[in-house]
Amino acid sequence: MFKDVPKLSLFHKPTLLEKLEKLSEELGVEVYVKRDDAIEFAMGGNKVRKLEFIVGEALAMGCDTLVTVGAIHSNHARTTAAAAKKAGLNAHLILWPRNYEVKGNLLLDMLYDAEITFVESREEALEKLNAVAKELRRKGAKPYVIPLDGAIPTGILGYVEAAFEIVRQLGELNIKPKYVVHASGSGGTQAGLVLGLKLAGVNAKVIGIDIMGKLNYLKK
Ligand SMILES: Cc1ncc(COP(=O)(O)O)c(C=O)c1O
Repeated sequence: MFKDVPKLSLFHKPTLLEKLEKLSEELGVEVYVKRDDAIEFAMGGNKVRKLEFIVGEALAMGCDTLVTVGAIHSNHARTTAAAAKKAGLNAHLILWPRNYEVKGNLLLDMLYDAEITFVESREEALEKLNAVAKELRRKGAKPYVIPLDGAIPTGILGYVEAAFEIVRQLGELNIKPKYVVHASGSGGTQAGLVLGLKLAGVNAKVIGIDIMGKLNYLKK
């Protein structure tokens, strides 16, 4: 399905699907966990799947800089910085808040050579995103702007692909999933899973657990 879609491969697929024996026993249902936390690129997580398609598109468009926003220890920012490095692109991160200790993801962003603009708040970061891109263009660069957490149609293709992996892996065990439960923040992962399962012809219910306490935002 994705053979004509630009993509930069960042990790080995499929990721493991492990049965949680004890939890399954306790709950009386079969529970499997998709180990995207174990993605080997830049300490893994769901952001890497989105970035495969986003960076693929940035390269296809001839862009030279990835620009994005995130909280000071954002996993999205860390993986964007790492993916830029791998692709030979520059990364410009806009992070909040200003007062920080150099450790964790922020330290990794710096080790991946990302340029960082510090701002006070999420609102200020979102405002600054286009201004930074404009300034880069003025200097002759070709920025690719990634909105918060990569929740754009190109990014969600990563979880369309993940949905197909899940269906195939469970199919090998003769299992049809009834529910897919996951953490939902920007809604990008959820959108990809819903679309992927639909395209795969699987009637499972996707339950996103809102990590931000901003259900109204997700419902929009
Ligand atoms: C491990 C993990 N799962 C899920 C999410 C939510 O992803 P999304 O922003 O695509 O809804 C996040 C990000 O906040 C995350 O770090």
